[in-house]
Amino acid sequence: MAAKHAFLLFVFISNTVVGFRWNEWWKDTIVYQIYPRSFMDSDGDGVGDLAGITSRLEYFNDIGVGTIWLNPVYKSPMADFGYDVADFKDIDPIFGTMADFDELISKAHRLGLKLVMDFVPNHTSDQHPWFVESKKNKDSTNRYRDYYVWVDPKKNCSDPPEKCIPNNWVGLLGGTVWEWVPERQQFYLHQFLKKQPDLNHRDPAVQLEIIGVLQFWLEKGVDGIRVDAIRHIYESEDLEDEPINPDYTPIPGERPQYHSLIHNKTADLPEVHELMYVWRRVLDKYSGEPNYRFMATETYDTHKALLPYYGTPERPEADFPFNYVLTQLKRENLSGTKIFELVNDWMKDLPSGKWPNWIICNHDNFRIPHRIGANYARALNVLELLLPGTPKTYYGDEIAMGDIWVTYNESRDPFAKNNPNHWKEYTRDPERSPMQWDRSSHAGFSTTIGDTWLPVNQNYLSGINVADQKADNTSALALYTKLAALRKDAPAFQTNHLKYVVVTEKIFSFLRIPDTPGLNSFLIIVNAGTSESTDDYSAALEEMMLKAEGDTGVIEVSSNMDRNGNLQEMNGISLAAGEALVIKLLI
Ligand code: GLC
Ligand code: MG
Repeated sequence: MAAKHAFLLFVFISNTVVGFRWNEWWKDTIVYQIYPRSFMDSDGDGVGDLAGITSRLEYFNDIGVGTIWLNPVYKSPMADFGYDVADFKDIDPIFGTMADFDELISKAHRLGLKLVMDFVPNHTSDQHPWFVESKKNKDSTNRYRDYYVWVDPKKNCSDPPEKCIPNNWVGLLGGTVWEWVPERQQFYLHQFLKKQPDLNHRDPAVQLEIIGVLQFWLEKGVDGIRVDAIRHIYESEDLEDEPINPDYTPIPGERPQYHSLIHNKTADLPEVHELMYVWRRVLDKYSGEPNYRFMATETYDTHKALLPYYGTPERPEADFPFNYVLTQLKRENLSGTKIFELVNDWMKDLPSGKWPNWIICNHDNFRIPHRIGANYARALNVLELLLPGTPKTYYGDEIAMGDIWVTYNESRDPFAKNNPNHWKEYTRDPERSPMQWDRSSHAGFSTTIGDTWLPVNQNYLSGINVADQKADNTSALALYTKLAALRKDAPAFQTNHLKYVVVTEKIFSFLRIPDTPGLNSFLIIVNAGTSESTDDYSAALEEMMLKAEGDTGVIEVSSNMDRNGNLQEMNGISLAAGEALVIKLLI
């Protein structure tokens, strides 16, 4: 009896010893991404808003989420739904007022939640006063003259000037990055929409303006930023053509697509790291116990291109660059070995002392039920929440929400509308449908008598909603809540290392071992195949010179919530297709 008590005491002490310092709060939290138009509508106009988010904040305490990140809520003509900012220091009326923002942040902090803002330094809206002024003329008296990337027509060109585009550069939506402005007789550069001119960060005045924006929000108390489109900040001043990508097959009759070129003049230029370091120092000035200001970056790229945004020990940059490798998972490539390859890429090249992070879904990619299949949604939450590092959940993923489908004519996303021939590949409307709260009309998202801005997925009537799932202890939400608690409480999940166990065409499995001996380890198994798989984990562990006590474990969580608490022999564990298990072991 005495021995047992001593053991419990030991566990208790260890639990308090493990844990993160005040400036590492972003390590054991879950970052939950809110697409503000789609989360909760408080005023019945069919579009989500800040007061709506505020009204739902308790939800995050209920499910164990510690950090929310908002996609842009700044004043915007909404050409790219907020990523075209017309005033970085104001809230768009569709989302409410600055008072609504203040209320949101103070309530969030009261509830112990961190709030991260989207920071969009690469471009503004063409309606931003800086651009409106900048495009008027190139006189030296124009204070905003160099705020954007203005370039003369190509020399020795016999066509009319507006046809003499400076080079072959192609934007993310296809077609040239250059747009002619008759008033200035010059082109401006836009990596995204025409209505999103790129800022010129080579102008020191622009750098100062952007630092001012950062300070404005830090003074409001935001806990961190997610930096948008970081790799596109700078373009080469020599304006030389980019090389043709030999692996790309052009589509006949179609304007050039982004991947037709190798972007060695317009992406990831070394100067961007200077800027990142400057922003890091601004954040550090506002960081003091207990408030550490966090930074993540966004860019879609290979893991090798993303890792430099961690910075170096001398010149730290982001706490982590958002890791998009798992967004590559789709029906056609899902397998145990594919997951292994993607996870291992990041883990093996992670700079020493840095912290990993994982993203499977976001506002730019289809959700799992559409991309892979509904029966994989739960297992992929298990994977994301229990890999070492910080997971990022896209709103609705916790209830296994699916996509909607709208026709080309009903499309709202400019990426779809600008690409009539390829809109099905470009559209991001499917994953942006309103959050499904309950069974009332519009799934409890809005009280509008008209339409919501995008249609609600009708599966809210068959259990895909928060209220029904809260009442069901086998639901996707019940699973999510249990996983969130486990990753917070068990020391095994507070390290940044993992060991792979069995990896096959179907199975990806890994072990999380605590730094303190004597505490439980966890074996996580995902069956990413299309049929059942039974495998011997005992032999695999033995090969690694590890062995589960008594060669048995206890199923802590099963993705279908139907095997929890079962004893499990390690030499033959069966999982159905799309199932995941979390097995508690003493090793
Ligand atoms: C990022 C955002 C995307 C937006 C783009 C332009 O890639 O994730 O939604 O359209 O930046 O700001
Ligand atoms: Mg509204």
